[in-house]
Amino acid sequence: MCGIFAYLNYCVPRTRKEIFETLVKGLQRLEYRGYDSAGIAVDGNKKTTAEDNSNIVLIKKKGKVKALDEELYKKDGMDLEAELDTHFGIAHTRWATHGEPSALNCHPHRSDKNNEFVVIHNGIITNYKELKKYLNSKGYEFESETDTEVIPKLIKYVYDNRERDDLSFSTLVERVIQQLEGAFALVFKSHHFPGEAVATRRGSPLLIGVRSKYELSAEHIPIQYNSDLFKEGVQEKNSHNRPDNSTAVNSAGDGKAVEYYFASDASAIIEHTNKVIYLEDDDIVAVVGGKLSLHRLNSLAGEDSVRAIQTLQMELQEIMKGNFEAFMQKEIFEQPESVFNTMRGRICFDTNKVILGGLKDHLKEIKRCRRLIVIGCGTSFHAAVATRQILEELTELPVMVELASDFLDRNTPVFRDDVCFYISQSGETADTLMALRYCKDRGALTVGVTNTVGSSISRDTDCGVHINAGPEIGVASTKAYTSQFVALIMFGLMMSEDRISLQPRRLEIINGLRILPDMIKKVLTLDKKIKSIADELYQQKSLLVMGRGFNYATCLEGALKIKEITYMHSEGILAGELKHGPLALIDKHMPVIMIIMRDACYTKCQNALQQVTARSGRPIILCCQDDPEVSKNAYKTIELPQTVDCLQGILSVIPLQLLSFHLAVLRGYDVDCPRNLAKSVTVE
Ligand code: M6R
Repeated sequence: MCGIFAYLNYCVPRTRKEIFETLVKGLQRLEYRGYDSAGIAVDGNKKTTAEDNSNIVLIKKKGKVKALDEELYKKDGMDLEAELDTHFGIAHTRWATHGEPSALNCHPHRSDKNNEFVVIHNGIITNYKELKKYLNSKGYEFESETDTEVIPKLIKYVYDNRERDDLSFSTLVERVIQQLEGAFALVFKSHHFPGEAVATRRGSPLLIGVRSKYELSAEHIPIQYNSDLFKEGVQEKNSHNRPDNSTAVNSAGDGKAVEYYFASDASAIIEHTNKVIYLEDDDIVAVVGGKLSLHRLNSLAGEDSVRAIQTLQMELQEIMKGNFEAFMQKEIFEQPESVFNTMRGRICFDTNKVILGGLKDHLKEIKRCRRLIVIGCGTSFHAAVATRQILEELTELPVMVELASDFLDRNTPVFRDDVCFYISQSGETADTLMALRYCKDRGALTVGVTNTVGSSISRDTDCGVHINAGPEIGVASTKAYTSQFVALIMFGLMMSEDRISLQPRRLEIINGLRILPDMIKKVLTLDKKIKSIADELYQQKSLLVMGRGFNYATCLEGALKIKEITYMHSEGILAGELKHGPLALIDKHMPVIMIIMRDACYTKCQNALQQVTARSGRPIILCCQDDPEVSKNAYKTIELPQTVDCLQGILSVIPLQLLSFHLAVLRGYDVDCPRNLAKSVTVE
């Protein structure tokens, strides 16, 4: 996954330095999406002339955004104090998929040595090899190993072979995307169209922030029909389209000052404006003369489409690190609040009613279904594992939990009377999205459980739940996990409201949820103790995490956190499987963490503990407060407050989140940006 950011100021004088700062800040907000290289394209000092109009300057640098930032000020001949009344700059932070991290492979990519067209891209072009071959045959030379580079070359090819001189920039882009397969969010800049911007998307997220001191002239941006069509034959079908540029519906323009911010997600925009437009697949947005207009690819007149200018509810401070060392640490400590926000307005603790607004109209249909399939990747999959047992109990339905990639590999049978849940923090994970499309095609009802308003999964599902955990910036998912956990439990509670036999159980869980934020606060007070355990463990190579029943998911999730940010080997082991293999790993040197809570698996877990200590294992045990039986066999204990069995996993995961954080810091790693990983994986 990569991060896209672009900034257009129209009739708003900005120095080049200010423009650099805006672009770099935007990239920094998106750095969690990819951080192996970064680049920008801006207008240079030169005045464009007919003979020499190579005025776009590209600055690209391997490494994090900070390295690019330093590079910008080293660039010769850039007048930083020059004031630009109208300007369009584009910027990108990359996570390599095609070609190693390097300045050459990093974006923006260009059409030619004169930088006639430059483009930034998030996604993957699956037919790039065919396009490259074609363009090579036409004499276009490539300089990078990326799939993206076909795009600027292709637009130049379309431009060089245009049949009329007055083709608009957006028409050129429309013709380009007609040829692209795969997923993309794209922003184009060209010296043939100074001060203009064109952006489009298919399968990758893109939104546009609008800032103007003038009243935005439209509540909605209506679709504008584009008469310049690429394919022969389509022209006739669309002959009643309005002529190009005739009816640009604007949000400002006409000499009225306006600024536009294009970004992969809202966290890069919110500090500038809270007015945004989320683009849909195959939207093409153009800004010309400060006016924004929106076209649909191959649109027909009469097609019903408007895009609302939405108001973001997010606060800037929600994405700032504050006094914490890392976003991950901040997000771990936010959990009393984030979990509360997931429940807010949904659970009435006076009446014991649970209403998830996004699901209530589909509840009857869900209750009639044959089974529930809960699908996700990584941490989101673990949230499904964590809640499977209680969902089976409360819904009395078979519940399958599936890793999205494996689900697709198996061509799993899915039926019309299945209900499929998609769990995803970002709402953009490619495998999960593909599983969603797969199930939709087979007629199943689809339910999204995401943390990102306007994300692809939240839009493409039939209904859903926003977990409301707030922006999660650290690559390692923490607060999203506990909120997903709570959201799925609330779904179970909603489903079981009219089951008389389940009322005592429901009540117990609702009471547990009521005091959950306070319980989390108590667990967070163990931070110092956990840090001291990390001091002992940080030089180890391996760490095993064992448990069973309601706490097995904690073992998987804890081990994932540890390997993801500390680069230690770690494995979550189902304690019932110990004697079927993993016991061979145990000796006095192997670090082991065991989770033994007072629940239905307590005795079985104690058996596992015996098996470990009998092999000289010295386990650190996560257990309930005052449990001498367990403590006497432990090397060390981390004592947790006890809650309802099915909620205990929310408490037991937090010490492992904290432990992985401290281990990573002690080992000297960048906690928020682990090597080789990105926050959201928008490629298969
Ligand atoms: O955005 P998603 O929840 O769909 O992401 C799924 C996984 O990529 C994600 O949970 C990943 O495993 C986390 N980085 C783990 O901390």
